[in-house]
Amino acid sequence: MASLNDIRSTFLDFFEKNGHRVVESSPLVPRNDPTLMFTNSGMVQFKNLFTGTEHRDYTRATTSQKCVRAGGKHNDLDNVGYTARHHTFFEMLGNFSFGDYFKDQAIPFAWELLTKGFDLDPKRLLVTVYHTDDEAAQIWKKVAGLPEERIIRIPTNDNFWMMGPTGPCGPCTEIFYDHGDKIWGGPPGSAEEDGDRFIEIWNNVFMQYEQFEDGSRRELDKKSIDTGMGLERIGALLQGKHDNYDTDLMRSLIEASANVTHADPDGPGKVHHRVIADHLRSTSFLIADGVMPSNEGRGYVLRRILRRAARHAHMLGAQDPVMYRLVPALVRQMGAAYPELVRAQSLIEETLKLEETKFGQTLDRGLKLLDDELAKIPEGADLPGAAAFRLYDTYGFPLDLTQDALREMGRNVDVAGFDAAMDEQRAKARASWAGSGEAKDAKIWFELAEANGPTEFLGYETESAEGVIQALVRDGAGIGAAQTGEAVQVVVNQTPFYAESGGQVGDTGWIRTDTGLVEVTDTRKSAGVFLHIGTVTEGAVAKGQPAKLEVGHARRRAIRANHSATHLLHEALRGALGAHVAQKGSLNAPDRLRFDFSHSQALTPAELAQVEAEVNEYVRQNSPVETRIMTPDDARALGAQALFGEKYGDEVRVVSMGLQPGSGKGAEGKTYSLELCGGTHVVRTGDIGAFILLGDSASSAGVRRVEALTGEAALAHLRGQDARLSEVAAVLKAPVGEVVERVRALAEERRQLANEIAGLRRELAMGGGAAAGPEAKEINGVKLVAQVLKGVSGKDLPALIDEMKSRIGSGAVVLIADTGAKPAVAAGVTQDLTARVSAVDLVKAAAAALGGKGGGGRPDMAQAGGTDIAQAEAAIKAAEAVLGA
Ligand code: ALA
Repeated sequence: MASLNDIRSTFLDFFEKNGHRVVESSPLVPRNDPTLMFTNSGMVQFKNLFTGTEHRDYTRATTSQKCVRAGGKHNDLDNVGYTARHHTFFEMLGNFSFGDYFKDQAIPFAWELLTKGFDLDPKRLLVTVYHTDDEAAQIWKKVAGLPEERIIRIPTNDNFWMMGPTGPCGPCTEIFYDHGDKIWGGPPGSAEEDGDRFIEIWNNVFMQYEQFEDGSRRELDKKSIDTGMGLERIGALLQGKHDNYDTDLMRSLIEASANVTHADPDGPGKVHHRVIADHLRSTSFLIADGVMPSNEGRGYVLRRILRRAARHAHMLGAQDPVMYRLVPALVRQMGAAYPELVRAQSLIEETLKLEETKFGQTLDRGLKLLDDELAKIPEGADLPGAAAFRLYDTYGFPLDLTQDALREMGRNVDVAGFDAAMDEQRAKARASWAGSGEAKDAKIWFELAEANGPTEFLGYETESAEGVIQALVRDGAGIGAAQTGEAVQVVVNQTPFYAESGGQVGDTGWIRTDTGLVEVTDTRKSAGVFLHIGTVTEGAVAKGQPAKLEVGHARRRAIRANHSATHLLHEALRGALGAHVAQKGSLNAPDRLRFDFSHSQALTPAELAQVEAEVNEYVRQNSPVETRIMTPDDARALGAQALFGEKYGDEVRVVSMGLQPGSGKGAEGKTYSLELCGGTHVVRTGDIGAFILLGDSASSAGVRRVEALTGEAALAHLRGQDARLSEVAAVLKAPVGEVVERVRALAEERRQLANEIAGLRRELAMGGGAAAGPEAKEINGVKLVAQVLKGVSGKDLPALIDEMKSRIGSGAVVLIADTGAKPAVAAGVTQDLTARVSAVDLVKAAAAALGGKGGGGRPDMAQAGGTDIAQAEAAIKAAEAVLGA
């Protein structure tokens, strides 16, 4: 028996042999569609190839596309478990032609694969065509030899496929399999078509038109083909089953569910096992594609699916979380075809476990409340909306979970009452923020948050995406459109732009609509609404328009490298300085990073070198950067660094990177850096490139600040240093390798020359050497030498005084240093005269004349400063006066 994995390969191989490129499934979160919640068919990733706005190097493709139909327009969630062919997650096999072949080749391909590749009995196949599509009918007749009664013309939209209200569309032909008259049901178009006898297995769409918002259509320049065949359906058929859940893949998941719950897979709990098997696939694949449980948007759909599964596990008697224990079985089945599942396995397991554990804490109490409420109302009556709302608000029961629980009893919820209760709660929230004294400006953001919900952030996974402009704001008020040159804040339903927070700066980039371009210079958020702040630089943009959003890639890449390097730096600082090091602030900009941390002393050069070397070691390790969601308590138990005093919600994002060396005896090393963080990071530490510490400084009392560079900026810094070194070498006319020696020799030479010059100056000042004796005056029997010396400094004077004293043998000396700036004066008296004359008196008198104050020293030697060298003569006179002249 061919497994689903074999069937998938047969399909892709067949089309590859026929010239098709095998293209990977696109992620479940569509990047190229502004409104689609999840990828719900194979053609989504090729949308722009059909309309001709995008071209690739192939015109034929084939895929096995992951699809989710839960939430949004296509929502099969309610039926899953109860029917044979509904899934929240399924794989769509498809072949595509972009202006290459059309009907006349698509139909033969389909027929050949079904009847030869899959060996289906041609007599059991029949088809539908759009009622006006004679051409397709003719081709079927010719290629498959189908008689007229097995080519059924359908006049309804069932045979005209549209991706949505706008976009590529066209008539289609659907291929059905007849299970024979033992099963009830009629052919398509008949009154009994809903029976199970005739099952649609393949839809071939002839893409011919593009539909616009006003309902008009244009013919596509190039006619194209889009097909879709559910792998689970064709699998059931080829495995001789009537129920998709009986195929090998689904069955193995159901058995895994039976194993962990110890409940018979085919017993009374059959529905529950089917729900668990299906929901295991959709939740795991959504998490692998970056969706995380939340209370809004896609994350809420994920949470709803998971809670629905948790209730069904509970129905099977499970007391503990079940879903995460089934992930290995899913990875075994589907990991080879979808490697992202293998990569994300631990993230999926942890996320499922956390969600199920949290919900498990309120599930029992919620179910008890549900029983109590039902006991209060008449048999068969709808559950009052207020009760359903309480289950939602207090116990986390999504409305569809309550409906699902009631469905088993044949009962409903009063949905209008539920909506009214929800509105009432919103009104209360509005009243409370209106009175909270927020700035008037903030009002618009609360209103937008309330009207549209928070902006969905796609930027962990992608840097470009499409969205719809929900609002344009200027000066705190909503506007309908903005023209070239006007400043504007743009609000979009979903965005890849990171809004400034946690030290990481906001993204810049472009928002383009059909009519204009906004250059985004910053992104911030308020009340969960992202504000893309910018200016219209082309045409005009208007509220309601679909838009393409693109983050400035190079800038974001640099920011990511700096943010990840900050985490490594934090850990390296703790290692080098001690566990008291805690983050006090940070900046992750494109050109540099800054990190403030608690530590009271300057870092020594050795510490700086150690930290820099350690960060670079982990950069070179090139280990993957991993992100997980967990409770704050679990994160702390793991040892994650959190900001002290910061308030965290009941879930936190934990970013880990680096693996410490193990014991060397085969033991695994521990994770190096673990931090609570909402920022964007590199994929692997090697993406940081290089890390350079620029040094540290004091930020405030007890807080140091370091700045550092990574990647291109680090390289540019090193190049700059290198260029300066080369310049120095060129000036020295020495090879770079000898620069240090040469500079050291120059410094030594300079010191010697300076000494020599000082000696020469002294000699010059003293009258040109020992031979020429100083000129002395005799006043009251005391020999006085008084001179003004050029080119000597104040600190040279004492030595000169001593020298002069020894030359004159007995007497007094007054020397004034003409330094070019403030003069200095010194006086000396030989020992034999100090009882009669004090050097201090001499210097004081001279300094006063020079405009200085004071002066001091001993009777044999004193010094002082002055301000005005022009009074040098007067100063000498004043000294002479002290001697009695
Ligand atoms: N896009 C087509 C479908 O989903 C093939 O049915």
